[in-house]
Amino acid sequence: MPARPETSAAPIRLADYTPPAWRVSDVALEFDLGIDSSEVTAHLTLHGAADAPLRLDGEGLELLSIAVDGAPLDPGRWRHTDNVLEVSGMRDGSVLTTRVRVQPAANTALEGLYLSGSRETGFLLTQCEAEGFRHITFFPDRPDVLARYTVTLRADRARFPVLLAGGNPDGTGELPDGRHWARFVDPHPKPCYLFALVAGRLEKIERDYVTAEGRAVKLVIWSEANAIDSCHYAMDALERSMRWDEQAYGRSYDLDVFHVVATHDFNMGAMENKGLNIFNAKYLLADPDTTTDDEYKAVEAVVAHEYFHNWSGNRVTCRDWFQLSLKEGLTVFREQQFSADMNSPSLKRIEDVALLRRAQFPEDAGPLAHPVRPSEYREINNFYTATVYEKGAELVRMLAGRLGTEGFRRGMDRYFADNDGRAATLEDFLGALGAANGIDLMPYLAWYGQSGTPRLRARGRYDEGTQRYTLTLSQYTPPSASQPDKHAVPIPVKLALFDRDGNMLPLHLDGHAHDTETVVVLDASERSFTFEQVPHAPVPSLLRGFSAPVLLECDYAPAELALLLTHDPDGFNRWEAGQQLAARAFDDCRTGGAEALDAWSGALKRLFVEPGLDAALLADLLTPPGEIELAERQEAVDPAQIHELRQAMQSRLGRVIGAEALERRYRELYAPGPLALDAAGKARRRLQRRVLELLALVAVDTAHALADAQYRSAKGMTDRLAALGVLVRGGAAEATDALADFRRRHADNPLAMDKWFAVQAQIPGEPALGRVQALEQDPAFTLKNPNRARALLGTFASGNPSGFHRADGAGYRLLAERLATLDSLNPQIAARLATAFNGWQRLEPVRRDMARQALSDLAGRPGLSRNLSEIVASVLSR
Ligand code: PHE
Ligand code: ZN
Repeated sequence: MPARPETSAAPIRLADYTPPAWRVSDVALEFDLGIDSSEVTAHLTLHGAADAPLRLDGEGLELLSIAVDGAPLDPGRWRHTDNVLEVSGMRDGSVLTTRVRVQPAANTALEGLYLSGSRETGFLLTQCEAEGFRHITFFPDRPDVLARYTVTLRADRARFPVLLAGGNPDGTGELPDGRHWARFVDPHPKPCYLFALVAGRLEKIERDYVTAEGRAVKLVIWSEANAIDSCHYAMDALERSMRWDEQAYGRSYDLDVFHVVATHDFNMGAMENKGLNIFNAKYLLADPDTTTDDEYKAVEAVVAHEYFHNWSGNRVTCRDWFQLSLKEGLTVFREQQFSADMNSPSLKRIEDVALLRRAQFPEDAGPLAHPVRPSEYREINNFYTATVYEKGAELVRMLAGRLGTEGFRRGMDRYFADNDGRAATLEDFLGALGAANGIDLMPYLAWYGQSGTPRLRARGRYDEGTQRYTLTLSQYTPPSASQPDKHAVPIPVKLALFDRDGNMLPLHLDGHAHDTETVVVLDASERSFTFEQVPHAPVPSLLRGFSAPVLLECDYAPAELALLLTHDPDGFNRWEAGQQLAARAFDDCRTGGAEALDAWSGALKRLFVEPGLDAALLADLLTPPGEIELAERQEAVDPAQIHELRQAMQSRLGRVIGAEALERRYRELYAPGPLALDAAGKARRRLQRRVLELLALVAVDTAHALADAQYRSAKGMTDRLAALGVLVRGGAAEATDALADFRRRHADNPLAMDKWFAVQAQIPGEPALGRVQALEQDPAFTLKNPNRARALLGTFASGNPSGFHRADGAGYRLLAERLATLDSLNPQIAARLATAFNGWQRLEPVRRDMARQALSDLAGRPGLSRNLSEIVASVLSR
């Protein structure tokens, strides 16, 4: 048995939930801010039963004083032990006052009150979700305690000219000794994880906005001075998000100001603090010289996501952290709808499904698998996962599909009306959606409580004599250690039937005529559906739009998939057929077969010249599933071999299309004139990059010469980075100069420098490790900045399978070493990077032993954080 780290604290269980004994109606906070030391005074108006002791959370706080209703508290009435402050004899309506000291500059975990940037020029900010508020003051730190906040900030005016907190402004003024103050009042009761403050030297851009309800709102985006010109795109995205939520959901903003702040020091993507969103600069700043097209989309999506939380998360919050997907899955889904409306629905769906397969399916198939609503955890920060977010969004999508556009809107209206100002559960959500439509949606709860990706098996049988086509669907979810018996879940299967010419057939099912597309629900282990009046054996198109997050198993002939890839009128379904066909082509490469490989490359050769096919869609069609996804379909995984085979199938595709055709297309896609940031410009660049990548596999010198020229003449980051990637990953001689140039050019821009590190961490195969080690010595590298650590180590470990999974295990040892160091600085980031080890049990034996050894060594180190030890212990189990 490998060594397991001590997991000291007992897990927290959903089944143990009890309502709080004491509630807080009002909070008045006063901050005396300083970089090394800040003092926090909290006045809490408490409500509860006098016989129950009051227990407040607090971690790393130096308690300076404690009083009740203005009088110092008798030492016999309170105890401060083990991250808990216990007070006895409190009366309903009493006000408890505590004064504590915290140390922002020493806070490298970036949770609670901390410093972003340098002591000289940086600013102070807070991060409270999930349990950061207890690092700021004593409080019942749980999301079902909702209170009204009044916040007063005091600080030196020269060092902290800008003082911000959530809520509406409620006055400012001068203080002696060059200090000043500002007060904010938030009229909406909120849980403490939505509290935020920011203080420092920041610049702003502003916009006036009037809501559909007629409220005048000041929108303000803040950043450090050198980045303020890069905030305009986010401002536009914010305005679009606000309008969209009014139109699509009837939800308007509810304060007089909405502040957004960018920081380079942030553990996650962004945070929806009420009235004061705080963003990782990566998801807020955008300008063509340093931001790629994909990153522009990500900025728009994250701005929207955080804004949408104002209703799905803030006005209606979560009863406890087990319900996290209630806000996150729902908000991801809302963002997906928004992004689909703003851009191309089929491209957005392709992106989201690809992400689900790359990030969530492997999670759900390995030792870190957990239900969308977990039943227990030790460290809640480890549950901000692809399962809670992305699979959670898929579950909302299924519900929305079940109810239809109007029914879903009716249900959401009911959900917001019934739960406004409350801390709700997933039952509340399903209950409201169902009640508004007279439908029982509770069977869908099974999806929330069960981990693992269901396998959906489909078999079709055509009977010439009766002209009937019978489709038999069955489901199976493999057992997992914590859930040996899995249950059937309702699986909506959107489908169509195609004839041999690629036309959709009208559907006759259960005596009704349907359109050419319908949804059947598999609500048991197995069911059959019989379609009438089918003139000849059809090709079924199943799970259209990815109508449920399952793995489809269907014995298509390659020619049938090629038919769907060529003819389906819906872009997403076309891509999906192409992905299935490509996976089969990959198997051909492994086994020496040819049928699927020929069908796949042949169909794409024809699509390559199809007039009118959207360039971005074509780019995606030309991209086979990634190495991580392909590994999921294999036993005894050898990542080096997977990389080679995937390259081989792509060179085959390149040869079938032809080097000349690729080069011609590449040149045709060259756009003279200024950089176009519209959809057509983005689509053009996306296809040009893909064509160049394929060309690099079949005419390497030509491709590298073109890439070098593209690098030097690129008008924006998308083309520059695409060219650099081709040179660096292809080991081109030109790569050295290009990298040096990139570094000179972008030395002052941390987000661009992250890309410089990441692109090198993606070099395939054995050379990757040496490059990563060399880059760790670069003066611009630091483990203290999460974006930088992720760019180098995260990209290497999670985004470069053939580089990380070396047969000699050196990749594993490097990561384990760095995790131990990182853990003492920032446990959240260490735990997240450690998930790169997920799936080690399925590696081929040599790598498996190496990975196990590195993991057990790490597990045996003393003093690991709860964050990292929970991940390491889970990954090692089973
Ligand atoms: N709630 C944030 C979001 O998804 C994510 C987050 C979690 C940020 C924890 C910080 C800390 O929008
Ligand atoms: Zn969120």
